[in-house]
Amino acid sequence: MEKLVIQKSRNLNGDVTIGGAKNSVLKLMAASILAEEKCIIHNVPDLQDVRVMVDILKDIGMEVSWDKKEHVLDIIPAKEINSKPDYELVQRMRASIVTMGPLLARTKKAILAQPGGCAIGERKIDLHVKGMTALGAEVTHTHGYVVAEAEKLVGSTIYLDFPSVGATENIMMAAVLAEGVTVIENCAKEPEITDLANFLNSLGAQVKGAGTDTIRVTGVEKLGGTEHSVLPDRIEAGTYMVAAAVAGGDVKIKNIMPNHLKSITAKLIEAGVDVKVFDDSIEIKSDGNLHSVDIKTLPYPGFPTDLQAPFMALNIVADGVATITETIFENRFMHATEFTIMGADIKVEGHSAIIQGTKDIEGANVKATDLRAGAALVIAALVADGETRVHNIYHIDRGYADFEEKLRNIGVDIKRVE
Ligand code: UD1
Repeated sequence: MEKLVIQKSRNLNGDVTIGGAKNSVLKLMAASILAEEKCIIHNVPDLQDVRVMVDILKDIGMEVSWDKKEHVLDIIPAKEINSKPDYELVQRMRASIVTMGPLLARTKKAILAQPGGCAIGERKIDLHVKGMTALGAEVTHTHGYVVAEAEKLVGSTIYLDFPSVGATENIMMAAVLAEGVTVIENCAKEPEITDLANFLNSLGAQVKGAGTDTIRVTGVEKLGGTEHSVLPDRIEAGTYMVAAAVAGGDVKIKNIMPNHLKSITAKLIEAGVDVKVFDDSIEIKSDGNLHSVDIKTLPYPGFPTDLQAPFMALNIVADGVATITETIFENRFMHATEFTIMGADIKVEGHSAIIQGTKDIEGANVKATDLRAGAALVIAALVADGETRVHNIYHIDRGYADFEEKLRNIGVDIKRVE
């Protein structure tokens, strides 16, 4: 199995260009199931999760061509859509649950491998099911599959008990072809939701209110095609911002929407980092001497759970004591054990982790426990004495395109070995 080998690398310098958002492109690809004409998607990152979604679309009968060099996906609608994508494929990625809404809307049926829990928590789909049921579907769980069927979908008002990103997206996509008006209350407000709404509207849908806590969808008869560029990945951007802050140096993060990164810039400034914000880039200057910062993960525009592990890496080597409180997922501190192997002082108590900063962390053999935790270990490795070997890097490949290349370009000594 491949691993990443990182040597201590301080004083980073140069530019990092950010790609399209993983958490958006996967949903746009699912939404293309709704289109009756060709969809062209630009700024598509070459990620393992995108490859899985390409295979799912092909498996249900769509024609997909991907120019990886130009980052463009061409998606041509299926003559006949298969409502039951391959079990193994669907199981490979939790995000494949967002094909439920579009499949149900287009074929009145969706048969998907039942998603299980994962390293960061139970990850239920009750809110997705609540939404589909409110629109008139019958949802059953049978032999490892979740089956949603409807004679027709009819608009309804749905209140989400928690602003789930995936449930908001699934319901939006099911509602665009439903009869009448659907209102999703207490919905998620993440920028990726707005990107999806823009994509749907460019197909001819009528979605209003994305980015607020109430989305209103007026159903239409059918949707056409579109050409759309994926919004920049704020989590990828945040990861490199933290890397530069921790290692020190002068790094410009380019091709981003700084507005989507306010909670991150605020925390980095609080930690003592010099952050300069431009129209579509952010410059990070740091001498690597940071103060501890308390973090509480929240739905957007609060601090993103996906950057909790990178900020744990920051706090490990900062001055002082920090408390990190995770409110989105119930079990997202698996990385704490790995950091401890490197010499970090972390106590996990329920939903909180208390971190006593230290200057003495050492390279070690550690393993990525999930996607963002993997990136966070690499950040810690930048200031750990000696060599760090990060195992299970298939997690990192799910969500970071050209990871080593981007880090090498700013001066990190990193290589991938068998
Ligand atoms: C998406 C992102 C993920 C990010 C998360 C929160 C993608 C592919 N992934 O995941 O990177 O960390 O948003 O910002 O976009 N929940 C329920 N019932 C449900 C649905 C969710 O209880 O039906 C709970 C989950 O178990 C979790 C919380 O709600 O504790 C947040 O989940 P959700 O917002 O749905 O995250 P995802 O869409 O899975």
